[in-house]
Amino acid sequence: MKVDVLLGLQWGDEGKGKIVDVLTPNYDVITRFQGGPNAGHTLEFNGEKYVLRSIPSGIFQGGKVNVIGNGVVIDPLLFKLEAEALAASGHDLTKRLLISKKAHLILPTHRMLDAANEAAKGDSKIGTTGKGIGPTYTDKVSRNGVRVGDILENFEEKYAKAKGKHETMLKALNYDYDITELEKEWMEGIEFLKKFTFIDSEHQINNYLKEEKSVLAEGAQGTMLDIDFGSYPFVTSSNTVCAGACTGLGIAPNKIGDVYGIFKAYCTRVGSGPFPTELFDETGEKMCDIGHEFGSVTGRRRRCGWIDLVALKYAIMVNGVTQLIMMKSDVLDTFDTIKACIAYDIDGKETEEFPFEINDNVKPVYVDLPGWQTDMTKMQSENEFPEEFNQYVSFLEDQLQTPIKIVSVGPDRDQTIIRYTEED
Ligand code: GDP
Ligand code: IMO
Ligand code: MG
Repeated sequence: MKVDVLLGLQWGDEGKGKIVDVLTPNYDVITRFQGGPNAGHTLEFNGEKYVLRSIPSGIFQGGKVNVIGNGVVIDPLLFKLEAEALAASGHDLTKRLLISKKAHLILPTHRMLDAANEAAKGDSKIGTTGKGIGPTYTDKVSRNGVRVGDILENFEEKYAKAKGKHETMLKALNYDYDITELEKEWMEGIEFLKKFTFIDSEHQINNYLKEEKSVLAEGAQGTMLDIDFGSYPFVTSSNTVCAGACTGLGIAPNKIGDVYGIFKAYCTRVGSGPFPTELFDETGEKMCDIGHEFGSVTGRRRRCGWIDLVALKYAIMVNGVTQLIMMKSDVLDTFDTIKACIAYDIDGKETEEFPFEINDNVKPVYVDLPGWQTDMTKMQSENEFPEEFNQYVSFLEDQLQTPIKIVSVGPDRDQTIIRYTEED
């Protein structure tokens, strides 16, 4: 068996949580491979709404195994709050959530360093989620990190050593902080984490594949936030692309199966950084209002704009996307005209190739498509799609040269339409 990967093609918040939950019945194992509590993955079903941060979105559909892979960074305190809230709502995970010993821990001082680094950047701050993501991955790469497996042996010593280094850095940045209370709660988080099974996840996942078990890897963030291929430096600190599933789980590239690329019918971004198709007018406001575009975790207003096919083609290329999933189509239900950016005008020259950097010189070149002006939220099958919507889908498939297999028409699990082709 192979590992199928589902990942975001834009700047995050595409609706990954919802679709992982929808696809979960087709898999035996669901696993996260990168990121950490910077993620906020929303699921809605049976009138309930859940937001997951570090825990895979496969926990709600009948006793599947869920794995937090080595590429993930874990804040034990936030993990405890997340798992306790789930247990209180009847979803106890201690027996079916496995955690890689090689996953790195986000220390309280990592959070402080995140805040201090942002403060030091002033106007050019990244607008991080403030969860300590950058400093934790920095420690991993500079070989100073503390891992989940370290909890089992000489933990106090390892923790104190890392904390000492961070304190020196925070002093150099003149950053005032007090982590007394946070550290106490964080240590309770460490005790809580011990209730879970720590595994050598690379062995375990490869064994699942040998046993013919199907595995789905759930990406966090999106390709435009990838540390290598995103809008650097306004990115997160991990590889959000498909290759990240190999390093974040310990599977070989030839063990990757389908790659589901998920995108919104328009585009959003939260935090700072370039966004060529961003709208600053009432059309953008309308998208934000109808799409409820506010961060699932931070509550920050998301910037909104038209779909960017230059960026999407690039994302499809670097991920090897085999199937597309289009989300939030319903948000455009009342628009007269839909615009799609098909090229960038850079200093008077048009290109369809994603450039080294997207800066103020990049101007989107749009085509206009007719809106469908029909409420799609109650539709159950593609046979009900209005003609203009079919036109939009065909236009995107033609541009992106990849089939759109799923269309989402609302936040609920049931508002999901699978499209069938002759091969199905
Ligand atoms: P993720 O981080 O990729 O899992 O996405 P988020 O959960 O951060 O953001 C997606 C938001 O859109 C959530 O509030 C979802 O409930 C909501 N959502 C998902 N799919 C749809 C859809 O098709 N239509 C609408 N209107 N909302 C959706
Ligand atoms: P999900 O998985 C949207 C953004 C932050 C910031 C940048 C770096 O829900 O799609 P970080 O805290 O990672 O150092 O912040 O990345 N960001 C996200 N934006 N969705 C996310 O996750 C994000 N995770 C990080 O806003 O611009
Ligand atoms: Mg999100």
